[in-house]
Amino acid sequence: MLLEGRKGVILGVANQRSIAWGIAERARAEGAELYFGAANERMQKGLLKLIAADTPHGLCDVSDDGSLDAFFAGVRERFGQIDFLLHSVAFARREDLSNPFLATPREGWAVAQDVSAYSLVATLQRAQPLFPESGGAAVSMTYLGSERAVSNYNVMGPAKAALESATRYLALELGPQNIRVNAISAGPVNTLSARGVSGLRKMLEFNAERAALKRNITTDDIAKAACFLFSDWSSGITGEVLHVDAGFSIVGI
Ligand SMILES: NC(=O)c1ccc[n+]([C@@H]2O[C@H](COP(=O)([O-])OP(=O)(O)OC[C@H]3O[C@@H](n4cnc5c(N)ncnc54)[C@H](O)[C@@H]3O)[C@@H](O)[C@H]2O)c1
Repeated sequence: MLLEGRKGVILGVANQRSIAWGIAERARAEGAELYFGAANERMQKGLLKLIAADTPHGLCDVSDDGSLDAFFAGVRERFGQIDFLLHSVAFARREDLSNPFLATPREGWAVAQDVSAYSLVATLQRAQPLFPESGGAAVSMTYLGSERAVSNYNVMGPAKAALESATRYLALELGPQNIRVNAISAGPVNTLSARGVSGLRKMLEFNAERAALKRNITTDDIAKAACFLFSDWSSGITGEVLHVDAGFSIVGI
């Protein structure tokens, strides 16, 4: 098994449709032991419908330094060390996704950047001391809206661009400790967050029609790539944005 004996932290499970849940299921099937973080009590309720009550978990609001500190203290206490971390977290206010991009207010921009991009830095600040001397791997989730202008993705586009750039800076700085930092740029998947972007159904149809593989991706397509990036099979890969999009982004005409 790819992740036999490995310990990992999973952030971003809201419900069974969450990309983080798909990744968690695969990682467990590959032998990993997981510690789950939930944004708040409501998300924790959703999480507890999926995991047994004695599965390691705790509250982890990535926009709150105190919450991050307490969460990673819990991880240290239970696991001692971790081998990998999944950051599958993003947020933008509804109005900043539906109003014209030009109308984005300072506050909405800041919220999207804080929760969706800075949070990777804040999370790795706490996770870095928990990786063993042999190193570790962190993976975050991004979308093509960082590289191209995608209708309705709005304020989230620049937030994902910042996340991808932070991935490279973190990879460079943590490379000497053999901590690899990568991002997966996933094609659209019907999740709670994705439904916040209007026109999702159209987007899924458009993607399936245009993608090289002539279909949409599944959560398990993403999960398999994430497990590869957590594992030694990707030992030479860091700072990378890996597209798992059925080849949508490579097509010209
Ligand atoms: N669904 C897609 O089409 C798609 C495509 C590419 C990338 N992504 C990215 O994948 C990741 C996961 O999204 P998803 O589609 O599984 O949706 P989701 O709604 O299931 O997951 C988003 C998660 O972010 C968490 N979150 C929000 N604010 C938080 C905070 N302050 N602290 C901690 N957690 C917080 C939510 O609790 C939720 O669990 C996101 O980064 C998203 O941008 C999604």
